[in-house]
Amino acid sequence: MKDSLSGEHESRVNIQGVEIALGFPDKFDFSWIGQRDVLEQLLAAWLVVDDADIPLNPRLVGKPGVGKTTLAYAAAKQLNKDVYIFQCTMDTRPEDLLITPVIDKSGGIRYVASALVTAMIRGGVCILDEANRMSEKSWASLAPLLDTRRYIESIVAGLKVSASPDFRICVTMNDDASTFEIPEYIHSRLQPQIYLDFPEADEERRILHENLPFLDGYILDYVVNFLQRAHAGNENYTVRDGINIARYAAKRIKSFNGNESNSSSLLQQAIVMTLGDEALTYVI
Ligand SMILES: Nc1ncnc2c1ncn2[C@@H]1O[C@H](COP(=O)(O)OP(=O)(O)O)[C@@H](O)[C@H]1O
Ligand SMILES: [Mg+2]
Repeated sequence: MKDSLSGEHESRVNIQGVEIALGFPDKFDFSWIGQRDVLEQLLAAWLVVDDADIPLNPRLVGKPGVGKTTLAYAAAKQLNKDVYIFQCTMDTRPEDLLITPVIDKSGGIRYVASALVTAMIRGGVCILDEANRMSEKSWASLAPLLDTRRYIESIVAGLKVSASPDFRICVTMNDDASTFEIPEYIHSRLQPQIYLDFPEADEERRILHENLPFLDGYILDYVVNFLQRAHAGNENYTVRDGINIARYAAKRIKSFNGNESNSSSLLQQAIVMTLGDEALTYVI
């Protein structure tokens, strides 16, 4: 029980006689803008109202780029908790989610805790990001963690690890087709579902401004206008697309020495190069 890179935490713990190396929290300066209701819904799901109560394991669902990861991170920070993000993929194996054995320099085996297990031990928040990319096999290993038992069982390390009472988890899922079906017994453990929709125009403008504070107002207005028309047309373009368009347009305009006369054609080009020709339908 020594060694600390950050100075805040020990980087190893001993559980049932097995030494486990822990990970480090993710640090970003994300803040959440607008949509108070979804933030309050998420915080309420994590609340514990009685000694006999346990937190819920909410899932955030919405289109890619709508703000799911940002919301989960901002909510955790509001509780002054460390955040550990686990990026799920199709190739995530159960041991990647839990504890992985690694050969050390002396040829022995060292056990390394995932972001999830680190959060469980430290009492932090784990964001299982884009979790519907994971296969059923990986989900199965989380069943006891996501009900009243609140533990995981690592087969490779031969350990049962219980979550700290302070541990919270939030799962994000993209509302698209590129994913596995989640088995029902897992689905029922990931409640409530919090649905994120596109922001209103004034919120979207503030989000863009917060992400790109150096942007000129006319670029902001142009991109927000474009996004709002796309939302109204039921198109899947999100804030993230808007940020990319605005960022690229700002670079193009700058490289033309800020000659504003062709800036609207550069903005149109940025839209086409980000989203394709079809996107021009939503340009006025
Ligand atoms: N309400 C919001 N407040 C602050 N930033 C936001 C908001 N919604 C979206 N964003 C920004 O949009 C981008 C995409 O958000 P992200 O959380 O990565 O989306 P998702 O996880 O749903 O794919 C990020 O740059 C994020 O900062
Ligand atoms: Mg995300």
